[in-house]
Amino acid sequence: MIDKNNIPASIAIIMDGNGRWATNRMLPRVVGHNAGMKSMKKIIEAADDIGVKHLTVYAFSTENWKRSDTEVNGIFKLLVKYIDSDIQELSEKNVKVTIIGDRSRLSDKVNAKIDYALEKTEANTGMQFNIALNYGSRNEILRAVKTLGEEIASGKLSYENIDEDMISSKLYTGEFNIPDPDLVIRTSGEIRLSNFLMWQLAYSEMIFVDDLWPDFTPEKFYETIEEYQNRNRRFGGR
Ligand code: IPE
Ligand code: IPE
Ligand code: MG
Repeated sequence: MIDKNNIPASIAIIMDGNGRWATNRMLPRVVGHNAGMKSMKKIIEAADDIGVKHLTVYAFSTENWKRSDTEVNGIFKLLVKYIDSDIQELSEKNVKVTIIGDRSRLSDKVNAKIDYALEKTEANTGMQFNIALNYGSRNEILRAVKTLGEEIASGKLSYENIDEDMISSKLYTGEFNIPDPDLVIRTSGEIRLSNFLMWQLAYSEMIFVDDLWPDFTPEKFYETIEEYQNRNRRFGGR
């Protein structure tokens, strides 16, 4: 049973395994991404239903450009399709959408669609759904360092005054007020972070499950919440 008084406020998910799901069925990888999108919709609803405040999903990494054009284009097409089909419902559920990552490499068409989704849900006060797109933790930290460097160069900031909170505030997650995740889940049996939220996950509980992302159901999601609730978070104390 899930303890309603101990719901992780901020959850991050590495949605991995779409390609293998498709390959196992001798289908093109993009079919796996389509199945993954359906899985994502159910998990958004499941998270919202139990009162999660922040759901942050890893949708496309700074390294994922290494994949074929067909796959990359297919993923962004699915994102556009998802916004078209779901933004109204998300907005009615009072969900606020944000994007973390470097949007400069995305096409004008994709960026226009994203702007539409952001504007439409901007004033919403319910769950914040954060999509990591062309996101990489190292890139995010580099960008924060450059911003601080600029502030020092212009005399606005003295280097002695840099502290951890200031660094956090210059990350995408800081800009969009996303608290450090309480829980991070990765599907597909891979046990690594793949450049996801490396600063922010310092004290997060990590749960790795074997299911491929399209097979990850709300029931399995709730099982991970129960597992989280059985963990003893110590933050270095005793
Ligand atoms: C995760 O699934 C989705 C993205 C990286 C866009 P993958 O496409 O990485 O699936 P596998 O790991 O190849 O099975
Ligand atoms: C991480 O998965 C990125 C996303 C889920 C978007 P990858 O499939 O790209 O990670 P690696 O290559 O297995 O580390
Ligand atoms: Mg993968």
